[in-house]
Amino acid sequence: PSASPLRIAVLAGDGIGQEVVPEGLRVLDAAARRFGIALQLDHFDFASCDYYLRHGEMLPANWKEQIGGHDAILFGAVGWPQTVPDHVSLWGSLLQFRREFDQYVNLRPAKLMPGVHAPLIKRDGSAYAPGEIDMLIVRENTEGEYSSIGGRMFAGTEREVVIQETVMSRIGVDRVLRYAFELARSRPRKHLTSATKSNGISITMPYWDERVQAMSADYPDVMRDQFHIDILTAHFVQRPHTFDVVVASNLFGDILSDLGPACCGTIGIAPSANLNPERRFPSLFEPVHGSAPDIAGKGIANPIAQIWSAALMLDFLGHREAHDAILRAIETVLAPKSGAPRTPDLGGTATTADLGRAVAECI
Ligand code: NAI
Ligand code: MG
Repeated sequence: PSASPLRIAVLAGDGIGQEVVPEGLRVLDAAARRFGIALQLDHFDFASCDYYLRHGEMLPANWKEQIGGHDAILFGAVGWPQTVPDHVSLWGSLLQFRREFDQYVNLRPAKLMPGVHAPLIKRDGSAYAPGEIDMLIVRENTEGEYSSIGGRMFAGTEREVVIQETVMSRIGVDRVLRYAFELARSRPRKHLTSATKSNGISITMPYWDERVQAMSADYPDVMRDQFHIDILTAHFVQRPHTFDVVVASNLFGDILSDLGPACCGTIGIAPSANLNPERRFPSLFEPVHGSAPDIAGKGIANPIAQIWSAALMLDFLGHREAHDAILRAIETVLAPKSGAPRTPDLGGTATTADLGRAVAECI
């Protein structure tokens, strides 16, 4: 291929991040060869607790220069609570990337894959078929309830007061809603659900609803509904198949984007993207799961979440057909058949590399 290569910054991080990222790269490499995509992979050892123990911080001072010019970041997982407290490791790395690179969309697909035992059944007692649950959760990733505005007064006294403000800006709300409406429009069902709580949170959430309403005028072809977050979580459990694209504020999106993938079985397959849709900064692609200290070092982590995250990265970088090929390969490998490699979380005895190799070979 003559095009200049896609420059990918690879940060494996901690624990099973070190084990699943090589499988993500193995599959990426297979897809790149099949579709003639030139890749330049640059590996970095920061954003890990090992790096912290050696340097006293999670990132080098010039981290933005080191990875800010890349087309995308492929990330494993960060966290090793035995040596570094989680708020230090997470705030010192991933949350810096999300904020400084203005990755205001956190996108999490939740799709029931073949060969994965779904934890839910339908109301009539029957099982969900693969693909029957297929939703995209869009979480606002930079403001909302996760603000640093507030404080503590009269600490340690009877008058102790703590306040933390929710921040919703028109720019911040509109841009994530715009992304979600466009995404819904691009899908066959064209259905957008908005999470709210305007009955209880009486200032910011009515504002969110107002912006949804205003923007819907531009999308008459998109079917729109909204639910308060409490009943919406119940609907996710009782009728997950009725959702398509779901958009939510930072806090509500955090909850829904753990619940959605959980409704589809193992966390070992759930991918995510942290997007800067304008591409002023690199976007970051990572599995939903963390570093899994309980199984790290055993070579048994499921690499599908990492592989799927790499597929989302290719899609975002303009290679839809490579994304689709990886997804088909994942579905083929997961489909129940004798001799199919399955990691322990899928009920088998295969290794991380067995599963990664099977997907790569399929491509
Ligand atoms: P976790 O996702 O690492 O593990 C939760 C459970 O799921 C564990 O039993 C683990 O063995 C299992 N699991 C996770 N990924 C798996 C996979 N690929 N295959 C098979 N089983 C898998 O969450 P936990 O234990 O709460 O956090 C561990 C560390 O990871 C902490 O330091 C936490 O802060 C960090 N973390 C980092 C995230 C990130 O980098 N984005 C996200 C979540 C947690
Ligand atoms: Mg979460």
